Parts: sequence; C-alpha cells; structure tokens
Amino acid sequence: MKKNKISFSSFDVDKQDYYGNLLLIGNGHIGYRGSFEEMDKDSKVGFNLIGKYDQKDNFWRESINLPNPLFVRLCFNDQKLSVLSSSSDNHQMGLLLDKAIFYRHSSFSSLNIDSERFIVDGDTDELISRYVIEVKEAGQLAINYGLDSDVWELNGPHYQKRSFSNEGQGQIRFVGTTNQEAIVIEKVSYHFSVKVGDQNFNENSNRYLNKISIRVKPLDKITLTIKAVVSIIEDESFINEKDLQMNAQLKIPYQKCLNKHMLAWKHDWELAKIELKGPDNDVQKGVAYSIYHLLTLAPHKYITSIPARGLSGQTYKGAVFWDTEIFLAPFYNLLFPKVARNLVIYRINGLAEAIKKAHKYGYDGAFYAWESQENGFEACSEYNIADAKTKKPIRTYFVDKQIHISGDVALGMFNYYEATKDTSIFYLGGIKTLLEIMRFYYSYAHHDIKTNQYFLNDVIGPDEYHERVNNNAFTNYLVKIVGEKTRAIIFSLHQENKQMVEEALKPYQEFFYQKLPIFLEHLFLPAAQKKHLIPQFDGYFKLEDITAYELVKKRITPNEYLGGSTGLANKTRVIKQADVVTLLALFRDFFSARIKRANYDFYLPYTEHGSSLSNSMYSLLASEVADPIRAYDFFKRSALLDLKGDSKNYAGATYIGGLHPASAGGAVLDLIYGFAGLRFTDNQGIIFKPHLPAEIKSIKFRFYEQGILYEAFITKRKILKRRIL
Ligand code: BGC
Repeated sequence: MKKNKISFSSFDVDKQDYYGNLLLIGNGHIGYRGSFEEMDKDSKVGFNLIGKYDQKDNFWRESINLPNPLFVRLCFNDQKLSVLSSSSDNHQMGLLLDKAIFYRHSSFSSLNIDSERFIVDGDTDELISRYVIEVKEAGQLAINYGLDSDVWELNGPHYQKRSFSNEGQGQIRFVGTTNQEAIVIEKVSYHFSVKVGDQNFNENSNRYLNKISIRVKPLDKITLTIKAVVSIIEDESFINEKDLQMNAQLKIPYQKCLNKHMLAWKHDWELAKIELKGPDNDVQKGVAYSIYHLLTLAPHKYITSIPARGLSGQTYKGAVFWDTEIFLAPFYNLLFPKVARNLVIYRINGLAEAIKKAHKYGYDGAFYAWESQENGFEACSEYNIADAKTKKPIRTYFVDKQIHISGDVALGMFNYYEATKDTSIFYLGGIKTLLEIMRFYYSYAHHDIKTNQYFLNDVIGPDEYHERVNNNAFTNYLVKIVGEKTRAIIFSLHQENKQMVEEALKPYQEFFYQKLPIFLEHLFLPAAQKKHLIPQFDGYFKLEDITAYELVKKRITPNEYLGGSTGLANKTRVIKQADVVTLLALFRDFFSARIKRANYDFYLPYTEHGSSLSNSMYSLLASEVADPIRAYDFFKRSALLDLKGDSKNYAGATYIGGLHPASAGGAVLDLIYGFAGLRFTDNQGIIFKPHLPAEIKSIKFRFYEQGILYEAFITKRKILKRRIL
C-alpha cells in the first residue's frame, strides 16, 4: 500500500540530513541512518547505538557511533560513481514501512546500483545489506569497500584505540576501545556472488578497505552481501567468547535472516498499525511513519530507554528525557508490555544515580536526571545552548531546576501499571523509587509557617523559557497526583503482599505515615483564578501580554534562543511549549470542563510550539474541549513533523537535528487517547469516549488489556471493542 512506503524519485544533495534521519532503520538498540554506501561522515552516515555513552575530554558525554560496515565506492573506467559527484540518470530510494527495509536504486550510464538493508532484532544486533551492481557497458570496474571507522560524531572522537583484523574469506573484525574503556567489537562479512579472489583489507585513515578491480560486460550482475554484527563488552577477557558467538551469527544465510526479520516485523506491524478512514494520503503516511518509528525504537531485549532523538544521532547527547514516560510509553503500555516494562525498569535501575544527584544539590530522595544516560547518569550540563550570535554558552537551569522529571518517572510507573496491572515492578524496587521521589519533593519544598503551605519554588516547568519560577502549576499538581497515587498503591499492595510491603516500608515509616500525608495535604496547588485561568507560575499574568507570533518577529538572529534570563520571552507571557495545557491534557479528569476550555483558549496564542512536544498535547486537550478542527490540525503537525523535516535544527548555535520520537508518540496519543478517547476505568476496564474530527470517519487499532488482545473500531455512531486473542 502506498501509505506504507516512503519513496523519493530523485536525490537532492542539500537534503542529505533529512533523508538520513527519515530513512533510518533500527531495532531499539542499533540504528542505521538513511545514507548511501558511497557516503561518509560528511554526509552524517551514522550507525548509532543506544545505551552506551562516552566522554572525550571535557566535551559533552554522548552516545557512541559504530564504524560503518556498508562503505562501498565504485569507479567505472576510473570515473567515480556517486550520487554526490555525478548526476545519475535515475535515482530512487525509500523505506518499506511495513517491512522495515531501506532500499535505493541508482542508475548511471554504465551500471545500476540496487541495494536494500535491514536490521535484525535477534539475540545479537545485526545490520544486513545486499548491494547489487547490474552492468550496462563493458569496462573496468573497481569496487572499494569495507569498514569505515572514521565516523560522524558531535563530541568525539570516542575511540581512543582501534584495531582491525582480516579473518579471511571476506570476514573482518574491528575492536575499538572508547575513552571510557568500553570495548566495541564489530565483525563484518563481505560476500561476492562472483569470484574476486582473496580479499586483502588495508588500513588507511581509520578505514579498513579492500579494492577489487574486474573487467565487466553488459548484463553482468555482481551481488555483494554484507553482514555486520556488533557487541559491546566492558572486559577484554570476554572477547573470545563473543567472537565465537558472532562468528556463528555471521554464518546464517542472507535469506534466512531476511525471512526472520520479515516475520518478526510483520507481527509487530499488524499489532501496532492504526487504520484510519478519511484522512488524506499525507496524514495516512504520517501515521504509518510514526508507528514505524516507534517500532524501530522499542527496546525488546535490553533494559534501556529511548533517547529524545531516538536512533538518529547523538543530538541531546543520546540521552533519555521525560519524553519517554509522557509521550512514548503509553503506546508501548498498550501494545508491547514487555518493552514498556523495560522502560520502567530502566528508571528503577537509575534510582541510585537519582539519589546521588539529589544529594549533590543538597536534597534528600531521588532527583532523576534531566538527560539520562546509562544507569540514570545525569548528562545535562549547566550550559546546554550556545548563543546564536556570539556562540557563547548560555547558562540554562534544566539540570538543576527542571524537577518535574522525578514526577514524570513516577507517572510512567503508574501509567504502566494502569494499562498492564503488573504489580511486579513495585516489588522490584518500584516502591522504594516512588518513596524516594516523594522524599525528594518533600525536601525541595519550602514550608511557609504562616500559611502552613508547601511551595515548590525556584523551578522550571515544561515551558523552558521561564527559568527559576515559583509554583509551576504542572509541577505542583504532578507532585500532588503522583504523591496520592504512591500512597494508594502502597496501601493496596499491602493487602496483596503484607510482608514485602512492610519490608520495603521499614526505612520510611515516619515519612510514609506522617510526613507524606501532611505534605500532600498542604502542598500549594495554583488554583484557577479570574475567568477560570490557572497561572503557569506565580506572577505569570503580570508578564507582558504579547503573542508568540509577534515576539518571534523581534528576533534579531535566526535560531535566537528566546529563553533564559536574557532571552526575548523572559519578561513576556510567551512560552516554548504546552505547559498548563500539558497538565490539563494528561489529567483531564482532574479539572472541570470550564477550566480546561478557558486555559486552552488562553494559552494558545502565547505558545510558540518551539518544541516538538507541544502540538500533541494541544491536540489532546483540543479533543477534550471539543475543538475538533484544531485537534486535527495539531495532531497532523505532530504526525507529519519528521516526514516534512522542517523542524528546528538549531537552538541558538547548538545542533538539535534528528528524528523526533516524542512527536511520533504524541501523534499516536492524539489518535488513541484523544480521537478514540481511550480511558482506563476501575470497574469497566478500558472504555472509549471518542471525539472524532470531521476528517476521521473511522479508526481501528489493537491493544492489550491485561494480556488479552482487543481490537477497537470507532466511527461517529459505533464503538466496538472486540476480543481477538
Ligand atoms: C524540550 C523538552 C524535551 C527535550 C527533548 C526540549 O526542547 O523543551 O521538553 O524533553 O527537548 O525532546
């Protein structure tokens, strides 16, 4: 089907970044950008890995990029054939979304190149490609191919040592040691369909290449099959064991790997696809792409999480933000509970680092990393953005003041539990995590003796433009809600498993039974004021009344950062992204219809939507307040963001390009929770309160409810929930 295919019929050299992002393939652990075999780091070729990070000197610690095994360059009669240097007669490339296969076709006057690639999600991580040359003219063909370890890195180089070896019969091995001593092993096999003699690889400028030269004639066909397997180990003594495992993996024939991949992908695709009647082809494609993207990011086999730019590169240090819990996890909660569980366990495993961070800033409890790397390590620096004009770093307070992150982590656990009813996470450290999160807020709060209220002062809310504000509504309500949920779940687990809960509660007796209830009762919640409006933070309504549209026009430099103490937005009501709106969208049953409508109308003109997270929250709330036209429009922006590729690439002078998982996840949220109106209830399980916009005639999708697979089919007149398995 057309909507399940992304295709381009020509190559535009200026759009390399865009193709590279969009045509990415991945398996939740490794990802390969949509570049061509003849390209190198200048074209941002990227073979990215999730879960392993490295720091070079004092640069930002970031995820690592693996050596590129798919490097192939052709010369025909001494003339280079490349989409970058010669104009090809005909050029096509794309992605088959329902098969997760990248393909390219290039037609030069002398020969055609066809290649396809995919990533297997098996016991090891494998990137597999088939590169086919079809000769049209007689001549001398040189093929230069091998492993390129001179990779694209934002804050590298990350390999302090590297060695290559030729293992014979077209198989080579790379062993690289990162600055922080992780060992990356990559083994690659190159297999030709024609006789090419011995393959003698040579090292040159961090490339390990072989060159063959053959006489060819019209209709000759040469197929090069490339298989790459990667492993990361911490200790050299495991190299031999890994080596054997990887050799076995490399022996599996191409077709077998392809079949396995297609079968696994088909299963996931059938489960996750959302069928819509009504929307135009672009929107259908945007939805299919969003689902494709979420599937490529799902950590099935590792306890890792999902970086803000997914597998598309090292932007944002390859770190995990609140994006995962709020925008991505709800999709996995409904369809891939094991993946969702891994995301929760990743955070539970991060507790020790969160406690360390709280301690560093002088607080008790767990202050989660704003930019979380392995084991919850905080990667966020105090200077995250460089000034667009002077290039000087700007002090931002994301790391030390964006405290809602711990509450987001708690909410992620509750959302997972609500969808799956899996209580095991609480016994596996979840209770402790929740209590430490609450202890953090309790120690952060300022107790005002006069009013007997607790204030959360000096914070940053989701709108990052206004820093160090007091009582951000989103944060205070979030803390109250997850705090009450923490109490409720512990009391309910106590009935199920008294002994374990009492054991877990032992160190927290006084806090849990005495301090926490008082804190929650007296926590200040910014109430709706005149005209039902909730102030985003103390004093927000006193700020200059200018719209986002007008303020953006005042920018002197393109990409100028509007936030921070010197940014244009500072003294105004202009906000970067949905903030009070996120609060109302996520906790729609907590607020009256009037409050939701009033705040939605009010904050709209002040919102810049300067983050890819903003549109989907507006759509969710628009559905709730019966503004279907805007609900659809915001959803569309979220669904089409990466397909269109016109999002911000720079914040100030800092590169922030790449794919936007939160936008893909947000679009799915808008469809399932917004338009279809999925809700969890205590006595009826999952129910639907749809708000279908005019453009959507029907919506059909699957979801698990406590291990049972259902299909929902919703039209203007019908709501059907049918058991499938
Ligand atoms: C947004 C954050 C988000 C981060 C990663 C920032 O621009 O303001 O809310 O978590 O990007 O996507």
